[in-house]
Amino acid sequence: MHAKVTIVGSGNVGATTAHWIASKGLADIVLIDILEGIPEGKGLDLFEAMPVAGEDITVTGTENYADTAKSDIVVITAGVPRKPGMSRDELLSTNFKIMRDVVGRVVSYSPKCILLIVSNPLDAMAHAAFKISNFPRHRVIGMAGVLDAARFRTFIAQELKASAEDVSALVLGGHGDTMVPLPRCSTVAGVPITELLDSATIARLVQRTRNGGAEIVKYLKTGSAYYAPGAAVAEMVESILRNRHKILPCAAYLEGEYGIHGLFMGVPCKLGESGIEQILQIKLTKDERAEFEKSASAVKTLVDVIEAQLQEARA
Ligand SMILES: NC(=O)c1ccc[n+]([C@@H]2O[C@H](COP(=O)([O-])OP(=O)(O)OC[C@H]3O[C@@H](n4cnc5c(N)ncnc54)[C@H](O)[C@@H]3O)[C@@H](O)[C@H]2O)c1
Repeated sequence: MHAKVTIVGSGNVGATTAHWIASKGLADIVLIDILEGIPEGKGLDLFEAMPVAGEDITVTGTENYADTAKSDIVVITAGVPRKPGMSRDELLSTNFKIMRDVVGRVVSYSPKCILLIVSNPLDAMAHAAFKISNFPRHRVIGMAGVLDAARFRTFIAQELKASAEDVSALVLGGHGDTMVPLPRCSTVAGVPITELLDSATIARLVQRTRNGGAEIVKYLKTGSAYYAPGAAVAEMVESILRNRHKILPCAAYLEGEYGIHGLFMGVPCKLGESGIEQILQIKLTKDERAEFEKSASAVKTLVDVIEAQLQEARA
């Protein structure tokens, strides 16, 4: 039997995530959306590509949550994306309302699933999903670090004319302007980039990484990135479903790790069949620590708004 992955939101990120997951033959896929016909149409189109792709998985679309029952993983991409000049944080209240609606429904049909959150502002939406679902923390994971690190890897490979596959990078912290790319933990075939590039070049690549999402929004004008985000989600899905124990930067709920309590932050996590199997704690330098803490306080500002709205809903 195949694993089952539901993707909530069949827009750019949802459909592209389905595409990457299907092309790797990882699971049967259910697309769901509130727009009637869109998940069915995109799902059928992708399903019809499977003979050519050589994969035997199914792809279906629906507006009915009963069809998502017993999913192993539910990826949540529902929500609005950014427009040029907008920050991810400006999406907070609209996407929180959507998250409240969606998480309650998926969890009632798939109480044992792993929730993989993609909607922005990412760390705050993961927090909302964690609180609404009442799931243990190892089953609620935010996708950001794999994407941010992929962008950093791309720019490093381009600068050094190296194979992108040889480049590994680490980006910690919140998914926003305060993210913390770590050059000393970023390598080309095992060699830290700090030995291969001068500090001005590294600073330029770090800044381009931080601005990576906005650079694409500026070109697209009517939406945000989706190919690389979809590929990043698929890598996390693969590590979970194939129990590969990959160490990937993910937004995880911290309970004292890195000195942070009660916030989702991007940290290196080992992903396997139970979700987050381990949070790896690496020693940060004084400057990295300061940047990480600055990022945590930016996440906390949004989480405080979410907590107030959750409390209001409970009252
Ligand atoms: N974490 C990341 O790194 C990352 C990267 C890219 C995009 N994003 C975020 O992902 C989200 C989706 O981006 P996109 O480009 O796919 O947007 P999109 O507008 O193309 O798609 C969003 C889809 O969600 C659907 N939707 C809205 N409310 C819903 C509900 N209640 N139930 C089910 N579906 C609902 C919409 O109908 C739409 O089809 C945005 O919040 C964006 O900021 C995050």
